[in-house]
Amino acid sequence: MTVTVLSEVAAGAADLSVWPASTQRLPHGGLAVGGVSLAEVADRFETPAYVLDEGEVRGRCRTYQDAFPAADVLYAAKAFLSRAMVRWVREEGLGLDVCSAGELELAVTAGFPPERIVLHGNAKSPRDLEAALRLGVGRIVIDGPSEIARIAAAVGPEGHQKVMVRVVPGVSAGGHDKIRTGTDDQKFGLSLTDGGAQHAISRVLGRPQLELTGLHCHIGSQITEVKPYLVALRRMVGLMARVRDTHGVVLSELDMGGGHGIAYRPGEPALDLTSLARRLRAELHKGCAAARLTVPRLLIEPGRAVVGPAGVAVYRVLAVKHTGEKVFVAVDGGMSDNPRPALYGVRYAPRLIGRASTAASRTATVVGRHCEAGDVLAADVELPGDIRPGDLLAVPVAGAYQLSMASGYNLVGRPAVVAVHQGSARLLVRRETLDDFRSRDIGD
Ligand code: LLP
Repeated sequence: MTVTVLSEVAAGAADLSVWPASTQRLPHGGLAVGGVSLAEVADRFETPAYVLDEGEVRGRCRTYQDAFPAADVLYAAKAFLSRAMVRWVREEGLGLDVCSAGELELAVTAGFPPERIVLHGNAKSPRDLEAALRLGVGRIVIDGPSEIARIAAAVGPEGHQKVMVRVVPGVSAGGHDKIRTGTDDQKFGLSLTDGGAQHAISRVLGRPQLELTGLHCHIGSQITEVKPYLVALRRMVGLMARVRDTHGVVLSELDMGGGHGIAYRPGEPALDLTSLARRLRAELHKGCAAARLTVPRLLIEPGRAVVGPAGVAVYRVLAVKHTGEKVFVAVDGGMSDNPRPALYGVRYAPRLIGRASTAASRTATVVGRHCEAGDVLAADVELPGDIRPGDLLAVPVAGAYQLSMASGYNLVGRPAVVAVHQGSARLLVRRETLDDFRSRDIGD
């Protein structure tokens, strides 16, 4: 596919700041990502299509590696996983955070070294633990008291498994109530405040086949300030010092989780990674010096900030309806491929692509095709007044927690995933079809 790029001036001033860095304006209102026209992707692979810019994913992995040269950066697979993603992350030198046997098996069968994988989960199934031990996962993160005996028994008296303990440090942070995990009123981890974490640590240390390498915390997701991380880190270092004082054990790892916030719309704040890295390191060294503690190796687990801004969702408009004062633009996807607006009230900035429009803009609500009124993708956004069926709409910052949370609602089928890179497009995950539904539906 060849593309001719328009000058910024000729194309107008629409803000592409949240789009992948490779995004280019094309003549007649088109946009290219990774050197490929999105309209051509829509024609070739049909819609809805999720377009992933390989260069943007790799670039973001490198940004993390550069900002945290002394840390272990683990990509949080729950944001999005496919075999290609596994390969990109591995080639860029990151580790992986998984939270199910499914994510784990996919990663290992796609060639990811198991020792570089950390397994999470507040309710690990027997299958999760069996897969973790069979495949030789690097660390299992203990999330509750009952897991200690279970993991020890599964490992066996002669076995050996590295583990961490997930601590709830009592810090509230995150973009929505549903994704705040740093305080005691939610299901994850062991409390620092009520002593649950300390008790679990003692019990783990009493199991010779479990090697406690360090402590973990993940305070929430879509966090745009550095400060909550610093508060959490201070408390975690304090706990590590108490473990040393009580048990004479110096833990070598401190995993501060992920949660790094990104902008979904132009002008929204994002977490400053350089500042996070610098201030976390300074706080870690300061805290460890004060407690005369050997500085542990830092681990971080970003998901959203690695893949979110690398994805663009491309939809075809199916219907435009004027109802009273409202204009509804209905597209061929919706809450089955992106449940985030319905779940967290998240706002997106869709954009007409594939043709130029000189019509004045008007406020419209982009909705999906599913059978409920809450199936809204973008409420009250500015779109050209002449938007019509057949048009293409593209939604940037669609790479994280959309496809990975996609459902089979209304048997619409999950969209195709297309990678774009250096002027060519290739299918990573094919569209879900009626045959896929039929093949699972085996009873009558
Ligand atoms: N580590 C742990 C233990 C986690 O639970 C998570 C996310 C991460 C790392 C990665 O967080 P990130 O860097 O991606 O924010 N579905 C929600 C987000 C749920 C996050 C769950 N845990 C959303 O769409 O906003």
